[in-house]
Amino acid sequence: MTPTVPSPAVVAGPAATDLLTLRRPDDWHLHLRDGAVMAAVLDDTARQFARAVVMPNLKPPVTTVAQAADYRERILAALQPGRVFEPLMTLYLTEATPASEIGLAARSGFVHAVKLYPAGATTNSNAGVRDLRHCDSALAALAETGMPLLVHAEVTDPAVDIFDREKVFLEQVLRPALDRHPQLRVVVEHITTAEAAAFVSQGEDRVAATLTAHHLLYNRNALFQGGLRPHMYCLPVLKREAHRQALVAAATSGSARFFLGTDSAPHARELKEHACGCAGCYTAAHALELYAEAFDQVGALSRLEGFASLAGPAFYGLPLNAGQVRLQRRPQLVPTELARGDIAVVPLRSGETLPWTLLD
Ligand code: NCD
Ligand code: ZN
Repeated sequence: MTPTVPSPAVVAGPAATDLLTLRRPDDWHLHLRDGAVMAAVLDDTARQFARAVVMPNLKPPVTTVAQAADYRERILAALQPGRVFEPLMTLYLTEATPASEIGLAARSGFVHAVKLYPAGATTNSNAGVRDLRHCDSALAALAETGMPLLVHAEVTDPAVDIFDREKVFLEQVLRPALDRHPQLRVVVEHITTAEAAAFVSQGEDRVAATLTAHHLLYNRNALFQGGLRPHMYCLPVLKREAHRQALVAAATSGSARFFLGTDSAPHARELKEHACGCAGCYTAAHALELYAEAFDQVGALSRLEGFASLAGPAFYGLPLNAGQVRLQRRPQLVPTELARGDIAVVPLRSGETLPWTLLD
């Protein structure tokens, strides 16, 4: 019988498009939490990324430079021996943040941004901002430093439909704030709509955006596929397919205004699978594989390095990383559950096969 499969000896090496080499990338939006969970999730990110912008929504939130310094030390102490990883710290903006704290942050050398959570918008946002105009002195100080304001861009008004909250925030809160502070630099975090993509691509150079892998790969049908899917629930919530396509177009456009931010957000399995489940998708362990899949789906792998490794440092005014990472088109099974510190986390794509694998 004629063999249908060539023997391994005559199989050529992987085609060029099956092996992807990128300058070492960064994650510009990450939740690490604290304590045992932080220590246990940290290596998922440090394996993939050289740096990550670490969100300050701890309990209590990281509102001062002194707290950020302590948090940074705890992160560095939890790194596995030999890992080189730099946490880029952020401050949590409140209506009581003094302008002096912003100045201190800018001079610290390790705080790289200030995060705006509208009060009640998402996980641990209760200490956030009710009326952004109450923060104008802090925003003026921030604009002077050139450090960006990172924005969770959703209004919290219960009368506004949850699928419209991003669009309404951009019109009613962010546009006026940008007009009040013409030097203020802003990253609209984890954008989820065509309106947000247009706001950024058609706006000023001082406005950029991060995109998550899950918003590039899924639309809101994923929340209800065959039943309620709590592990697909994050904020801002997934939107309809036309929005996903607009986000993919933005991410793969080659514009340096769009860069990688996983928004990986670990929550214990039982708090996701709950009558009132927490918002957040855990993607840190397979982040680059998920982004590669999204870019590959539209034939845009050649744009991944710009998005993952070049645009973020340019916006933040930080050097490019040395070194490289390699991804191979080789299937890998995502574990159904990951033990992380004292909790079990269900990763995105739990129990499914990913087409790409990050090589160590
Ligand atoms: C984040 C979290 O769990 O801290 N959750 C999420 O759904 N993205 C908070 C946030 O970024 O909104
Ligand atoms: Zn987040």
